[in-house]
Amino acid sequence: MIETFIRDIPKTELHIHIEGSLEPDLMFEIAERNKLVFPFNSIKEVRSAYQFTDLKSFLDVYYEGAGVLVQERDFYDMTRAYLKRAHAQNVRHTEIFFDPQTHTNRGISFETVITGIHRALVDAQRHLGISSKLIMCFLRHLSTDSAIETLKQALPFKEWIVGVGLDSCEVGYPPEKFTRVFDKALEEGFLTVAHAGEEGPAEYVRQALEKLRVSRIDHGVRCVADTQLVKKLVAEQVPLTVCPLSNVRLHIFDSIKKHNLKHMLELGLCVTVNSDDPAYFGGYITENFLAVQEALNLNHDDIYRLVKNSFEATFLDKQRKQYLITELDTFISGYNQRGMERHKGDTFTHSMHQTLNKESCDRGSLGSV
Ligand code: HPA
Ligand code: ZN
Repeated sequence: MIETFIRDIPKTELHIHIEGSLEPDLMFEIAERNKLVFPFNSIKEVRSAYQFTDLKSFLDVYYEGAGVLVQERDFYDMTRAYLKRAHAQNVRHTEIFFDPQTHTNRGISFETVITGIHRALVDAQRHLGISSKLIMCFLRHLSTDSAIETLKQALPFKEWIVGVGLDSCEVGYPPEKFTRVFDKALEEGFLTVAHAGEEGPAEYVRQALEKLRVSRIDHGVRCVADTQLVKKLVAEQVPLTVCPLSNVRLHIFDSIKKHNLKHMLELGLCVTVNSDDPAYFGGYITENFLAVQEALNLNHDDIYRLVKNSFEATFLDKQRKQYLITELDTFISGYNQRGMERHKGDTFTHSMHQTLNKESCDRGSLGSV
């Protein structure tokens, strides 16, 4: 069953806003212990407020939800909860966004935010074996001076942050506006990524590549409007961290069946699947995979390609990356072996196995690997 395959395959997640993983029950618990007056009376009420018309309508609710986070332990608990869920879905490695300005603008110190998140990451590595990296995002609806100030605040914690990103409202806030702060970040040794081509045009994807010198594009689904840009993204195999359920909930696509993920794969783009803000969009990484598999009729090869792309696109050192890719390929071999034993032909023919003889493929199952 392809569903079991999706659930079991080792994964990595590259586009997850930690504040977007705050589930309503934990939000309530944290609000209560911080003695905050909260605009909702029940978890049901919170969930029913999650009806969005576009990115802005979502962000209004999302920033409100993040307002319950005050103490270091709040950031710890939120991060720990996400990591536990990710671990349960066989996520081996995750690269997490956080939005410091959402908190520092409310008088919470940068140190409180990052120490809570970091402590949870360290604990999860130790107790669950899940590795992680942290990416600090600048809110693009705020000024470039505010972004520069945030970068300064991050410098004492440089060892804990692998890169910087750009999120929040996209249209009207082009990447090039942030060239100065990204230049500084690159000088300091941070890698760069940026949300682009979610609601904004393909031109923003181009700017992110050329002006912000990004290693990955977050979302990027609108790149297909520009053929020359697609050629460049394919040639350079720039990873695109696509978030299918998010795109539907924010009306980037009318339905999951209309999502262009399969088309992007067919174009040869380096597409990955991610959850974005799972507490708000109805699913974590596995639910995202299940939804696109069913709606777009993806096969085992497609799922493997998406997962492999993610591992290749991580900011991990060579050794851990290779370790995880080997684990992935061992999983595939074991899966095929089990499929053969069941004689159900529930196997697939990704490139790793394409040297196998035609006869075994014709039987619908692969020889032992
Ligand atoms: N886009 C932009 N900013 C965000 C998002 C998103 O999908 N999620 C959280 N911040
Ligand atoms: Zn995002």
